[in-house]
Amino acid sequence: MPIEPMTKAVGLDLGTSTIKLVSGNHSYRIPSVIGSPNPGWSGMVQDKSWLNNLIIEDANGNDVYIGELARLQSEIRKSLASEGKMKSIDNSILALKAILSLIMKSNYEQFVVATGVPIATGVEESKELIRGLKGTHEIKVKNDATGETKQMKILVEQSLVMPEPYGTYYNILKTLGVTTAVDSVIVDIGHGTTDILCMYNGRIMRAASGSLEEATDSLTSALSRAIQEKSGKIIRPFDLMKTIEQGKRTILAGGKVLDIGSAVDQSIETISEVIIDETNRLLNNLPPDAWIEKVMVTGGGAYIFGKYLKQAFFEADIVKSPEGVIVPEDAVMSNAIGFEMIAKTKMK
Ligand SMILES: Nc1ncnc2c1ncn2[C@@H]1O[C@H](COP(=O)(O)OP(=O)(O)OP(=O)(O)O)[C@@H](O)[C@H]1O
Ligand SMILES: [Mg+2]
Repeated sequence: MPIEPMTKAVGLDLGTSTIKLVSGNHSYRIPSVIGSPNPGWSGMVQDKSWLNNLIIEDANGNDVYIGELARLQSEIRKSLASEGKMKSIDNSILALKAILSLIMKSNYEQFVVATGVPIATGVEESKELIRGLKGTHEIKVKNDATGETKQMKILVEQSLVMPEPYGTYYNILKTLGVTTAVDSVIVDIGHGTTDILCMYNGRIMRAASGSLEEATDSLTSALSRAIQEKSGKIIRPFDLMKTIEQGKRTILAGGKVLDIGSAVDQSIETISEVIIDETNRLLNNLPPDAWIEKVMVTGGGAYIFGKYLKQAFFEADIVKSPEGVIVPEDAVMSNAIGFEMIAKTKMK
């Protein structure tokens, strides 16, 4: 009779705009927001998935909307992180418990959890998050669309917390089969922040790491302004996201087709230059014998800025060849994938 380990490894990435979870063949993304309940007609909802209709009960027995449900329905919403840091530990733990409930097959399960947090999160907050996640938790969740409730218990046997881009560093080295520490810079371009993490001799170099507000939404905001100036039409940055993701170079505004191609290229160049300058500035804080072998460009922004940055990091002399710049296969999930790998190494 085969005997399988009952503890599951979980990788979490607690970003300023989305939380990601990877465990076995599960892979989830939810917006990093929680919110007040706002009950209403829900019988009409098409999408009855737990992922998009998630409500969790907090310590006081109150309902809290999580992720997409909070984004769409809550009147009072709180972001879990902003300005490059985690905001409320209690709220983050609540959201993490809610997302863990999605992978439960029975009403009791054991986990080893490795979590990535924004780079500017303090040591104290990280420790609090580790303590808060570790141990036994009662979880009560409800599906807003169906009214179904579930009650479960989890045991987090071990909890690790690291800066988000470390997940990609681990993932890439493991995937490449590199077993020695390689001096690297990991540039994680997200929705609202770019995190830069510097690794030297296998250590995280705090003085050479930091975050920037230039990221994917800087591009869509710049475009939105340019479109308004040119055509008088207001197109919200959020609505330009899909256009950018699909690599489209024209849009329809007020019944007219506009060519946004060169504006996109120009913005990509400007934002990339800011990222390169900041990386250079941070690298000045490394010891002189540091030898950056790899620059890893990750996060959803890698799909947009990756190509330009590959060349630009090389031209800025930060790496010795364009091949030294690596983009992971799944840039959006790569931190969480790496954290799951790390969690696995901690299982007995
Ligand atoms: N395939 C894609 N092509 C282009 N852009 C993409 C793609 N996938 C995601 N993006 C963009 O990347 C951004 C999301 O990236 P990511 O998930 O890394 O951000 P995040 O981690 O939630 O944000 P932050 O790091 O600021 O917390 C979005 O702005 C999205 O439009
Ligand atoms: Mg991110």
